[in-house]
Amino acid sequence: MTNLRDQLQRPLRDLRISVTDRCNFRCQYCMPAEVFGPDYAFLPSDKILSFEEIERLVKIFVSLGVKKVRITGGEPLLRRDLPKLIERIHRIVGVEDIALTTNGTLLKKYANELARAGLSRVAISLDSLNEERFFEMNGHRGKVKAVLEGIEKAAEAGLQVKINMVVQKGKNDQDIVAMAEYFKEKQHILRFIEYMDVGNSNGWRLDDVLSKKEIVDQVHQFSPLHPVDPNYKGEVATRYQYEDAKGEIGVISSVTDSFCSTCSRARISAEGTLYTCLFATEGTSLRELLRSGEDDETITQYISDVWENRKDRYSDERNEQTMEKRRNSKIEMSHIGG
Ligand code: GTP
Ligand code: 5AD
Ligand code: SF4
Ligand code: SF4
Repeated sequence: MTNLRDQLQRPLRDLRISVTDRCNFRCQYCMPAEVFGPDYAFLPSDKILSFEEIERLVKIFVSLGVKKVRITGGEPLLRRDLPKLIERIHRIVGVEDIALTTNGTLLKKYANELARAGLSRVAISLDSLNEERFFEMNGHRGKVKAVLEGIEKAAEAGLQVKINMVVQKGKNDQDIVAMAEYFKEKQHILRFIEYMDVGNSNGWRLDDVLSKKEIVDQVHQFSPLHPVDPNYKGEVATRYQYEDAKGEIGVISSVTDSFCSTCSRARISAEGTLYTCLFATEGTSLRELLRSGEDDETITQYISDVWENRKDRYSDERNEQTMEKRRNSKIEMSHIGG
């Protein structure tokens, strides 16, 4: 096994690959419709990595220590033939876990095929069970009912399911308990995500963030909780189990309780740029390297050098100054998928 470490002694374990920058939703906190309108220039297909190129990169990343692969977007199920990519990644020796982050609307159609292709897990985003508020948050694009059907189909297909809810004060904080209750009953793990300042389009303000503590307090009032240990070192979500031992929730607290010290995640955008932080302003293009005829050894060395130089810890250092420095120059969430 490789001993590759970054400047803060963090290994490389987790690779998150965006397969498209498009989405059928326009969530205000990610792709606001005013910015991502009919004239927005999405990536043309020749600028997007092919399945062959992604497969080659995954093999290289596995040789550097990666064990987990997550497919993201935009909305990854908009990418044609996605199960074929899952199949290719599933065949790579050393990949222990393949997950997908999706808004769930197309799962009804693809869940079985994805499971057959070797996908193990899905994280499905759902911000409210209230049709009106959900519709408002996703830019008037999707129905709760369609997402819930997708969730059921994924579970029936044998995929492990987690639900992600981004909490925005004044937008959907009144839905926390109803979501907890519903998914406790369904026995799916629900993870609450503190609203983050990713990208440059969502007009983020600290005042709109509901903290981990406030979220846990609300759920605890509904049904008592106790904290439990992470499943693995570097797990992003803090876990809490219900006292009556039926199920658990997680909270992802990038704003009020950051977790950079154990961050072993690399991200590749749909156009093949490597980012070593979700809040990066610059990445390293791998696409030209892949298309220039360089051999695997050269590309492996190149990526290894990038990781060895990595110092990112944006959430640990987040303050007025660091935010100002990156104003309007961060990578958009729809390019690297969270
Ligand atoms: P598991 O593999 O099941 O532990 O899931 P995960 O928590 O790694 O994956 P998921 O994609 O479901 O993460 C949920 C959300 O947490 C993402 O969409 C992001 O919003 C946030 N998140 C994940 N990784 C990071 C990270 O490295 N930094 C920050 N700030 N947020 C992250
Ligand atoms: N803050 C927190 N989470 C976000 N996501 C997208 N934008 C943000 C943001 N600004 C989440 C989505 C989904 C995952 C891809 O990232 O809701 O669960
Ligand atoms: Fe699409 Fe997910 Fe972004 Fe919403 S959060 S716009 S579903 S990529
Ligand atoms: Fe990792 Fe950057 Fe998130 Fe910190 S802010 S956990 S370094 S991706």
